[in-house]
Amino acid sequence: MIESNDDDLQLCPVTLAALNEFLKEKEEREKQLKHNLENQTLDIAFDENWQLSQFWYDEKTVDTLVKGAINCTESNGRIALISCPTLYSKLKKNAGERQVTLFEYDKRFEVYGSDFVPYNYKFPSDIPRDMSNLYDLVIADPPFLSDECLTKTALTIQFLTKKKIVLCTGAIMGELAERLLDVKICNFIPHHQNNLANEFYCYSNFDFDKMLC
Ligand SMILES: C[S@@+](CC[C@H](N)C(=O)[O-])C[C@H]1O[C@@H](n2cnc3c(N)ncnc32)[C@H](O)[C@@H]1O
Repeated sequence: MIESNDDDLQLCPVTLAALNEFLKEKEEREKQLKHNLENQTLDIAFDENWQLSQFWYDEKTVDTLVKGAINCTESNGRIALISCPTLYSKLKKNAGERQVTLFEYDKRFEVYGSDFVPYNYKFPSDIPRDMSNLYDLVIADPPFLSDECLTKTALTIQFLTKKKIVLCTGAIMGELAERLLDVKICNFIPHHQNNLANEFYCYSNFDFDKMLC
């Protein structure tokens, strides 16, 4: 039988230094690979699927909403995106330490990993319970211009937000949105890559326009 004691396990300083160097380089390579994969994922372009009522914002609108989201949250804050997937990529790239979560029905966005939460507005109580009051800001763009859709989406918005809400939706939903969420129309007007037939606005329960300066 071979006896072993702690001394047998000790490496000479030169070997130990080489081993540490090797492990450090390995960690760096893995970090870089993860970063590259994440960036590749963030650069995927998703076509609109009109069956799912998908109407993507134009680039300027994405830039503006992302700028506002960054300016109105702390550097380690949490931002929830409900049914507005085109904001995710740009926001994630500029978010720093902020946590960004996308609540979305379209499973293609599962590529965003743990930042993706499957969401169907029809079942507001399916949101994980521990997400209650978790988000410093919630941005939502409900799929349909109907009282039923806005009312159910509003339940999810209220469940998730600590306070701040930005809602992008059709002008015909403005009155109900104000009643449900206490939001007011903003000067900033969102635009889409393919022009919508409906008048479309941005609503918030704080001075979102001020965050865009
Ligand atoms: C009007 S679009 C808003 C997209 C936004 N303008 C953007 O550029 O990201 C509505 C979104 O709701 C999603 N959606 C469709 N059916 C849904 C459902 N049953 N529950 C929740 N979201 C749904 C669509 O996939 C789409 O991303």
